[in-house]
Amino acid sequence: MKLYNFNSGPSILPQSVLEEASGAILNFNDTGLSILEIGHRTTWFQDVLQEAISSVKQLMQLNDTYEILFLHGGATTQFMQVPMNLLGDGETAAYCDNGIWGNKAAKEAALFGNVQVVTNSSDKQHTYIQKQFTVPADAKYLHITTNNTVEGTQWHQYPETGIPLVADMSSDIFSRQTDFTKFSLMYAGAQKNMGAAGVNLVVVKKEVLGKIQRKIPTIMNYQKHIEAGSLMNTPPVFAVYVSMLTLRWILANGGLTEMGKRSVEKAELLYNTLDSLPVFKATVAKEDRSQMNAVFFLTNPSLEAPFLDLCKKEGMIGVKGYRTIGGVRVSMYNALPLESVRIFCDLMKDFAFRNG
Ligand SMILES: Cc1ncc(COP(=O)(O)O)c(C=O)c1O
Repeated sequence: MKLYNFNSGPSILPQSVLEEASGAILNFNDTGLSILEIGHRTTWFQDVLQEAISSVKQLMQLNDTYEILFLHGGATTQFMQVPMNLLGDGETAAYCDNGIWGNKAAKEAALFGNVQVVTNSSDKQHTYIQKQFTVPADAKYLHITTNNTVEGTQWHQYPETGIPLVADMSSDIFSRQTDFTKFSLMYAGAQKNMGAAGVNLVVVKKEVLGKIQRKIPTIMNYQKHIEAGSLMNTPPVFAVYVSMLTLRWILANGGLTEMGKRSVEKAELLYNTLDSLPVFKATVAKEDRSQMNAVFFLTNPSLEAPFLDLCKKEGMIGVKGYRTIGGVRVSMYNALPLESVRIFCDLMKDFAFRNG
């Protein structure tokens, strides 16, 4: 049976990336060695890393004021590493709490300094993005989550506050064109739009570093990673390799302009179908709907289980909503073809016809 992968992460990757990566496990670039067997200080891996770094710079159109790092760990590591490097003892950082991940990021930051939560959308179960807020005058940075993977909301215009903007872009990185120079630090776990789990992309503007007094463990210190060129210790070689292949695929497929066009097409198709079928109910504010993760419910909750059963039977993978929220979540990352969304929408229509 054909499977349609709507997983929220780790999630669908381009078929050509999977094929090339599996070939490289047996014989990397005709070296006779597996990518899993080569040393991280060989020129073979240096080339992989350099291509990954220059692809990020090219896609984000960044100059040399930014550094690109590929670091161990998931985005959760960055919840700690960001404040450890940017927030001195007793200093203040502003955080937007628009969902589960932003909330976790704020809690970790509070271990290092004062955290002022400047938005909190929990009054409406995080179904919208609060855009009007003020940041404390002395805040060192503002942290946002550009796409709320669990709740299905997304910032479509970034806040301008005059203080450095830091963003968790884990679930919408490289899904659309934007002005990345608005950000002082961006990070993302690779396992959604960029590659395999196990590596974080961190893009940092050099000027925000070196401003605090705290002693930072070497492996957590961005500056030390910059000096070591992401090779302070053994990097997650295979995960970096898969990111490099995925970045190459994005560039070969029209870059972020094309990714953005495809994201809009998929999201419009899904949400238009949803809005036309009363059997389904979308709770997220229309203007804040995520192009990556569509979260919705069955108007009659007793139909949720039959709908999810039908999805399973028809090969629709990963559409059950997050465990604390329930409902349905359809993730539409870069590698998901429009055709998969079309087939899912046909299934929704069919279900609505039988149960309307
Ligand atoms: C927006 C966002 N931030 C952070 C995380 C946590 O990432 P990780 O599991 O890689 O630590 C996730 C995971 O889904 C996420 O979607």
